[in-house]
Amino acid sequence: MLAYTPEIATNTAALYKKVAKVIPEIEWPFHAPYIAEINRLKREQGAVILAHNYQTPEIFHCVADIVGDSLQLAREAAETKAPIIIMAGVYFMAETAKLLNPEKKVLIPDERAGCSLAESITGADVRLLREKYPGIPVVTYVNSSVDVKAESDICITSGNAVRVVETIAKERGVNKVICLPDEYLSNYIAKNTKVEIISWKGHCEVHERFTAQELRDYRKNFPGAIILAHPECPPDVLNEADFVGSTYRMSKYVSDNKPAKVIMITECSMSDNVAVENPDVEFVRPCNLCPHMKRITLAKILECLQGGGKEVTIDPQLAARARLAVERMLAVNHG
Ligand code: 13P
Ligand code: SF4
Repeated sequence: MLAYTPEIATNTAALYKKVAKVIPEIEWPFHAPYIAEINRLKREQGAVILAHNYQTPEIFHCVADIVGDSLQLAREAAETKAPIIIMAGVYFMAETAKLLNPEKKVLIPDERAGCSLAESITGADVRLLREKYPGIPVVTYVNSSVDVKAESDICITSGNAVRVVETIAKERGVNKVICLPDEYLSNYIAKNTKVEIISWKGHCEVHERFTAQELRDYRKNFPGAIILAHPECPPDVLNEADFVGSTYRMSKYVSDNKPAKVIMITECSMSDNVAVENPDVEFVRPCNLCPHMKRITLAKILECLQGGGKEVTIDPQLAARARLAVERMLAVNHG
């Protein structure tokens, strides 16, 4: 463990002020020495730290250079000039960053940071689906492995799904697409488009645990609270919500509308991170933890800057096919 010196206390005081509402004072001496050392080394090495909205506040607000949902992280990964990218997120996010930066060093602090959606389907499954539905485009959530992306026509994120599905259906002159692997995100897309959706039974282990009854109870117990939910939740849960959107859209909803009280039906750290930026909003915090996101810690990020961590490598031929699917998605969004 690194020592908390008076110099570190002084140098990190402004950062602590920012996160004081969500990180107890007693914890700061454990975080601050890592934050100071990470920020020193990343400047020295020209490294950039990307962090997903589900990272804990000491990572999200104190060491990350770029934060956001999967779509924002993919876009920023495509733009960055930094020679070293550290992905504070799960493995598929680091793979996406590597796809878009084949010549750069992409590190993940813990390679075991997986995702139940990415693990629900293989490239061989996609090939079988193509045989079963010839001519139907395959649209794949970025929460997937490189193998699966390589078998897909285009990727989506929760922030652009409906738009991308409609674009590819129009481009290919079809009214049906295969949408993988999240059954609930596919349901949500189907409700918001006329394009017919063939889905897969993958689920997010975090969002599938929320229930409609739980949301009804929140409404009763916290009258007037606005309920925001991620589209990876089951359809009956989404029916009870006031707003459905990606983690970026949920965060934007709070900043734009400043509801007096809000409940975010998503991963635990999201409310903490949004609360820092919105001190006047009261957050009720239902908490389902993503065990994969939580494998990423300050100590492991520091290891990446000290020659450790796991460097992401992808077979170049596979990468070329998977990259196409991601780049097609980014082209739709920028277009
Ligand atoms: P977002 O793209 O909305 O951030 O979602 C990513 C994710 O893993 C949600 O569980
Ligand atoms: Fe995967 Fe769900 Fe964790 Fe997101 S929250 S990384 S979808 S398991």
